[in-house]
Amino acid sequence: MSHTTQAYRAAILHSLADPSKVGVEQSYEYFEDGLLVVEEGQVLACGPAEELLVRFSGVTVTEYPDALITPGFIDTHIHFPQVGVIGSYGTQLLEWLNTYTFPAEGRFADAEVAAENAEVFLGELLRNGTTTALVFGSVHKQSVDAFFEAALARNLRMIAGKVLMDRNAPDFLQDTPESGYADSKALIERWHGKGRLSYAVTPRFAPTSSSEQLALAGKLFGEYPGLYMHTHLSENLKEIDWVKALFPERKNYLDVYDHHGLIGPRAVFAHGVHLCDDECARLGETGSAVAFCPTSNLFIGSGLFDLPRVEGHGVRVGLGTDVGGGTSFSQLTTLSEAYKVLQLRGESLNPFKSLYLATLGGARSLYLDDKIGNFAAGKEADFVVLDYKATPLLEFRLKQAKTFAEKLFALITLGDDRAVKETFAAGRSLHRRD
Ligand code: GUN
Ligand code: ZN
Repeated sequence: MSHTTQAYRAAILHSLADPSKVGVEQSYEYFEDGLLVVEEGQVLACGPAEELLVRFSGVTVTEYPDALITPGFIDTHIHFPQVGVIGSYGTQLLEWLNTYTFPAEGRFADAEVAAENAEVFLGELLRNGTTTALVFGSVHKQSVDAFFEAALARNLRMIAGKVLMDRNAPDFLQDTPESGYADSKALIERWHGKGRLSYAVTPRFAPTSSSEQLALAGKLFGEYPGLYMHTHLSENLKEIDWVKALFPERKNYLDVYDHHGLIGPRAVFAHGVHLCDDECARLGETGSAVAFCPTSNLFIGSGLFDLPRVEGHGVRVGLGTDVGGGTSFSQLTTLSEAYKVLQLRGESLNPFKSLYLATLGGARSLYLDDKIGNFAAGKEADFVVLDYKATPLLEFRLKQAKTFAEKLFALITLGDDRAVKETFAAGRSLHRRD
């Protein structure tokens, strides 16, 4: 133990495995009076306070009464340039893009706008307890520079990329296959592997990239170890018809990406609301992931994601807020909406499965479960302190809870950014609510 060792005492909860695979009881660890010991940005130990206070006697302890410590939340799909259009009224995907989103993204040609927005965006993530995100930039490389600069200054584990888009979008938002490739490559050289940052090759979706652009994106995806691929897939029925018309030779939507080498480990497809069994099976066998984005799927009228069916094909699934099509930065709010989506499908979502989706499951879908997602010794110390007394209603409701599972479910259902008392990344406090 060094003089920099810190310990945090509260109730502690973290996932050990997917409840759908090992059963709920084997899927988590919970310490009613727990201690999380952190050294040099990493987890040194996590367990019952009584035991660990003996083992680490003399350690500086911060106590949080009436609070729950969990791993930092992981957002597997979000758009940095869309904060300014969150909560825009009354359209479905394609009209929503043209009416609100493209004009907003156009402003990111200005590096100052991008820098200003990066501060707001990261501030919101941290206020909501999100410590890792897979992030769409705009088509402008300066948007990604601004985002990564702000993330590096906070030593966050973040993944982002410049959008590739060479057709079916306003001129001011288009690149070309060659310029998109060259700009992405320059960003990879500058940022990929720096601090805790990684780069994602980011074709927006099949309709806005030519086959030439998708082919170059696929080539780039294979050129550097550890790169991600991040795009949208089968979100909206009109979008799917459009893809069929644009790529009539491909057997389904996923096959457009597959054909161009845009599939496999660290390929993350947002939405997947309307996938057929063949697409699910292919995603599963290639080790690709899908980001489940409930608030966005509801808000822009895309449909109800079939979590059990997609997971049943062995597909890795993470949770995405998809701001600004999505309506909240909060993973708690997003999980509450996920529960409602499953209810409408006649399914349910156990609160420990919710915890898994927002933490270890997200990490697994990003192939980061050796680094983040729970409190196994040696992992990066990204964690949140959730306040059981965040609002009068939450405090009153939680007092009635007879079991921890009941408490957790109510916390997820009623919680939002107000429930996040403090957020730590790599052992450093980056947000304190009060
Ligand atoms: N499909 C293509 N672009 C977008 C976007 O910005 N948001 C969402 N939700 N879907 C998309
Ligand atoms: Zn999206």
